[in-house]
Amino acid sequence: MRQTPYEMLGGEEGIRKLADAFYDAMDDRTDVQEIRDMHAANLDEIKEKLFEYLSGWLGGPRLYVEKYKSVCLTEPHAPYAIGPKERDQWLVCMDDALERIGTDDELKELLKKPFFMIADTVRNQETEAA
Ligand code: HEM
Repeated sequence: MRQTPYEMLGGEEGIRKLADAFYDAMDDRTDVQEIRDMHAANLDEIKEKLFEYLSGWLGGPRLYVEKYKSVCLTEPHAPYAIGPKERDQWLVCMDDALERIGTDDELKELLKKPFFMIADTVRNQETEAA
């Protein structure tokens, strides 16, 4: 039987590691300052939410929708100006996170397009704010 990306990433433990690594990367990197500044100093709560979201999105238990009754990302992101630059910073953090948890190249390649698509859906500005 074919595995889901959730399973390929190591199930619950793997997805938790990915969400933690994502925000650790955002915290560590100096080239994603714009999106780091949008977030709270303490990233524990958002790590948990990203874990819950990715769990369902990658084909595992749909934890986020069970808890928050929606998978729509438009509303929670509406307060933030997200253009191509911010989208690309988000994707840089995701690439870094996949690297940090030791994801193999084949799986990284498989996830590239879907991650781009979802990040571009969250984008709510055509270009950068002047
Ligand atoms: C495209 C660039 C993106 C930026 C700049 C961005 C930024 C943010 C910010 C600033 C928050 C609020 C954090 C807080 O409440 O402290 C947030 C929330 C969240 N983001 Fe993003 N995000 C992006 C894309 C994405 C993508 C692609 C996903 C999912 C794959 C995602 C998943 C979430 C989730 C689940 C939340 C929590 C929503 C809630 O409050 O329930 N984000 N994001």
